[in-house]
Amino acid sequence: MRTPLIAGNWKMHTTPSAAAAWMRSLLEDLDGIDVSNVELLLNVPATHLAVLAPIVAGSPVAIGAQDVSAHAEGAYTGECSAAMLLDAGATYAIVGHSERRQYHHESDALLHDKVVACHAGGLTPILCVGEVEAERESGAHETTVLRQLSGGLSGIDLSRSDDLVIAYEPVWAIGTGKTATADDAQAMGAVIRSFLKGRYGPLADGIRILYGGSMKPANAAELLAKADVDGGLIGGASLQRDQYLAIATAAPR
Ligand code: 13P
Repeated sequence: MRTPLIAGNWKMHTTPSAAAAWMRSLLEDLDGIDVSNVELLLNVPATHLAVLAPIVAGSPVAIGAQDVSAHAEGAYTGECSAAMLLDAGATYAIVGHSERRQYHHESDALLHDKVVACHAGGLTPILCVGEVEAERESGAHETTVLRQLSGGLSGIDLSRSDDLVIAYEPVWAIGTGKTATADDAQAMGAVIRSFLKGRYGPLADGIRILYGGSMKPANAAELLAKADVDGGLIGGASLQRDQYLAIATAAPR
């Protein structure tokens, strides 16, 4: 069985010092709550990683980055390599979030190089895919997601299913309060699983496919109960400890 991954994405919110206090409180809140059935992860701004790493050490909470450079080292002002993020405490990196695709014009070819960089640098990539509203309305959503998957994963070999996570985030559901129905999330999860089976054979059964887009305590249980929804990539609600924990405890046991 795939362990549900309850992944927050804080985006560009909080400061390192506020995050430290937040994390200490989360660990206190976790005392006495059984989260052994899930994996807890918060993808935070790069500035927060080294501050949070000693706080979460030995706890059930992992931290990750929201982006990674496609390069290992060099004259790339402003970028952080996978090795830097790993050394600062990250174990995962989000790759190709729709906000990076939209505002930074990240292409599938670049995201492919970022997946390679994660693997070379010891991070697990969370590759995000998802259609915009017009694509959903015209029925092109599956074609879009399959194109993003084949571009991002072109030539990427896997030796373990834990070395890749896919997040399906329909762009029209992000930060809008509109959520894909659990059936729609499952339908796309099945499309993604079938693509992964074609690429990776039996390993695909162990690859986690997350749903993201206005996941909240009120809809989490229904989404997480679906066979091909193996966790969430949670924006706004992951900044609220009570909501994040409510989503984590809504995962099936
Ligand atoms: P919201 O949960 O705020 O809709 O954000 C989803 C998201 O983009 C997570 O990466």
